[in-house]
Amino acid sequence: MTFETITHETNAQDNDGVTLITLNRPKALNALSSVVLEELIEAFAAFEADDTQKCAVLTGSGEKAFAAGADIKEMSDKPAADFYLDDFFSKWTSHLVKATRKPWIAAVNGFALGGGCELAMMADFIIASDNAKFGQPEINLGVAPGMGGSQRLTRAIGKSKAMEMCLTGRMMGAEEAERANLVVRVVPQADLLADALKTAATIAGKPPMAAIANKEMVNAAFEMTLEQGIIIERRIFQILTASEDKAEGMAAFIEKREGQWKGR
Ligand code: CAA
Repeated sequence: MTFETITHETNAQDNDGVTLITLNRPKALNALSSVVLEELIEAFAAFEADDTQKCAVLTGSGEKAFAAGADIKEMSDKPAADFYLDDFFSKWTSHLVKATRKPWIAAVNGFALGGGCELAMMADFIIASDNAKFGQPEINLGVAPGMGGSQRLTRAIGKSKAMEMCLTGRMMGAEEAERANLVVRVVPQADLLADALKTAATIAGKPPMAAIANKEMVNAAFEMTLEQGIIIERRIFQILTASEDKAEGMAAFIEKREGQWKGR
């Protein structure tokens, strides 16, 4: 698929079922213009629709940024009534999260600020390069996070750190982000993409329906009580026991061979 502000590549390495999506406005530090966000929704919808693709990686082009936020130049002259009447960010925020049920990883190279941090936190998990910097600096612009940052950051790293970051606008470096559980791990910048693609290929090699189910149940932990979440988990587990991949997975274990997955 061809886009103006992002690139989209299926089977990024060796027919591996991994889609690589790259934010591609390096001169603007991959700022999230409305075109970028529309194209991202299209790319994720294409990923979801393609049965050969099982896991995606989202990253930024250039060495400086994953994304330095929503496009300030685009927002600076926009009348307040338009933000309200368009329900600004609602479409992109909710569509992006719902565009795919399949797993995807954010590979954060450099700045992930404002909408960039919020976009990374929409991923199932984040792998960061050693020069990654996370922040919600919207307060410096006289506004506040608008794509879920105040909620997802607080759930990820707790109230004190999230509150301090939103109120001061300070950036959090990669090591601190790992200690705070915002990211899975930190790798040297040069190794980031290879690490993320390898992790995605590992996920792509798992039974695909079970991958979707595992994602769904972990996400349920953020939406409901412990008791409700445990019921959802049990029901999804029980449903999976009826799948062809469950029969294959257990037979493969007993026969000491690799499973061959059907995704059903
Ligand atoms: N929107 C539009 N353009 C941006 C941008 C953004 N969010 N961030 C950077 N750019 C542009 C700069 O304007 C500059 O363009 P020009 O060369 O045409 O002037 C180019 O990218 C390079 O940026 P800098 O020269 O500023 O690079 P730097 O290395 O000196 O600083 C930075 C890097 C600290 C990340 C700085 O660019 C910066 O502070 N960016 C803005 C960060 C920010 O406030 N993000 C939040 C946006 S609001 C938001 O996201 C709302 C929400 O909740 C969704």
